[in-house]
Amino acid sequence: MTSIDLDPLKKTAALQAIAFVRDGMVVGLGTGSTAKHFLVALGEQVRAGMKLRGVPTSQETATLAKQAGIPLIDTENRWEIDVAIDGADQVDPHFNLIKGGGGALLKEKIVAASAKQFIVMVDYTKQVPVLGGSFPLPIEVIPFGWGSTAREIEALTKSRVVLRERNGAPFKTEAGNLIVDVHIDRITQPGELETALNLIPGVVETGLFVGRTNVLIVGRPQGVQTLHVPKT
Ligand code: A5P
Repeated sequence: MTSIDLDPLKKTAALQAIAFVRDGMVVGLGTGSTAKHFLVALGEQVRAGMKLRGVPTSQETATLAKQAGIPLIDTENRWEIDVAIDGADQVDPHFNLIKGGGGALLKEKIVAASAKQFIVMVDYTKQVPVLGGSFPLPIEVIPFGWGSTAREIEALTKSRVVLRERNGAPFKTEAGNLIVDVHIDRITQPGELETALNLIPGVVETGLFVGRTNVLIVGRPQGVQTLHVPKT
């Protein structure tokens, strides 16, 4: 089996996303390898004279944005975001997402929720008929009693829950929390699942992004495609 290098496809999607940024906007800046391409391209726009300010969804993105010359707003203040642009780990036909592969899901969801428009850029392998299966659902949980929280998640989803680790130690989010990855076979009702998970004490946020995406940009070997959210 020949494996395709997906990075150029992520880059074509990221370059296309630049078309959604206008002079004077406050832009939510996503996290991950696709978002990285977007930050480089956005920096070029700033150097060409575009006035904008960014809201980073992680420290990594803040660093990359500064390197690219993108001015950032004070994130611990009130903000209004015109457009947020981010990658995703999976996208279903209704543009519902799984995010959080990089562990930045909490800030990513806060930014997506407060943006007037949420644009998602992916390579074509992220498109799936149903969420779940090949990609576990990340859930950010409070460290206090995380084992009990994980048990409740297990009981609700009837799925295996695994504490995320990095270098042999529990992975810590920027908010000081933990991530559990839930191996759910098919997420057929993402909205209901998101609500139910958020009711479990100890759950901070889930990687399900339901009904938030306005535009999906997909990098394919044949070219890039810009799709608008289907009417339900
Ligand atoms: C970060 O926590 C994630 O939500 C990323 O946005 C997602 O994992 C997509 O990453 P890539 O663009 O690297 O595939």
